[in-house]
Amino acid sequence: MDKRPNDMKRIVNDELAQKFIAEQVAEVRAQVGNKKVLLALSGGVDSSVVAALLIKAIGKQLVCVHVNHGLMRKGESEQVVEIFRNQLDANLVYIDATERFLGKLVGEADPETKRKIIGGEFIRVFEEEARKLEGIEFLAQGTIYPDIIESDGVKAHHNVGGLPEDMQFDLVEPIKLLYKDEVRVVGRALGLPDDMVDRQPFPGPGLGVRCLGEITRDRLTALRESDAILREEFAIAGLDKTVWQYFTVVPDFRSTGVRNGKRVFDLPVIIRAVNTVDAMTATVPDIEWTVLKKIASRILNEVDGVCRVLYDLSPKAPATIEWE
Ligand code: XMP
Repeated sequence: MDKRPNDMKRIVNDELAQKFIAEQVAEVRAQVGNKKVLLALSGGVDSSVVAALLIKAIGKQLVCVHVNHGLMRKGESEQVVEIFRNQLDANLVYIDATERFLGKLVGEADPETKRKIIGGEFIRVFEEEARKLEGIEFLAQGTIYPDIIESDGVKAHHNVGGLPEDMQFDLVEPIKLLYKDEVRVVGRALGLPDDMVDRQPFPGPGLGVRCLGEITRDRLTALRESDAILREEFAIAGLDKTVWQYFTVVPDFRSTGVRNGKRVFDLPVIIRAVNTVDAMTATVPDIEWTVLKKIASRILNEVDGVCRVLYDLSPKAPATIEWE
């Protein structure tokens, strides 16, 4: 297991981050030579920082693969393409696998089955792309120090992510000794935008675990649009700086509403916001009524098929942060 040296300074400012970056650039160049490196780029903090670091070190020898599973938040995949392909000139393979994922999920309402389908399909899509690429010898991963400590090194072993036996890569893990706050400082020093570096945690199965029960397109759209409004309004109110994680949830039942004098049977949207240190327990922040009411009003007016907005007041425990 990799151990963080006792004398390793915590990276707290740009100067220390630049020093770290220079060291890692040299190390990666020495490890990789003129070979190619593959990276699954989700757009999350860790994989984005690894991508930016490796682009600096080896440029087009890095091949980034971004799989859009159709369960990303609004604008997320577009941002990955904009930053990495357009601004950083990365070698980026973008795969829109939305139809494939949503097709596999039809009729599946069980939360764990949904997670398995999404995770399994993700590996298959990534593997298919990896097979198409010639001459890849290394796999880069956004493993960070808590992953190593918490999983006892499991995530740091070869072929995690379930790639098959005949696809052996050597690993490149340039941020594996960093804590999350240090990864953010390094990301900023690499010039990544704040909204990417400060991103809140987002589950691998994405919106799939927030569109409760069977994922249907109308509810997924309501979820994505309401989540975008929530994020926008939290940013306007400055809550994006103080609240740890916030998102909307769309349940798999409908509720009666009235629209243009007619009774409708429409969707509820639940607002979830939590503060926590380690996600093991969480509290519900006090949000100003004016902010909540503005968000509710915008969701009701701007998102099709929504007739009700609720605010979840449950701490963890007994509730979990996500709804499924
Ligand atoms: P819970 O709901 O267990 O969530 O209180 C704790 C934290 O973990 C995130 N989470 C996930 N992350 N895959 C992930 O990568 C998942 O399946 C998953 N489920 C929950 C959740 O967003 C919260 O930050």
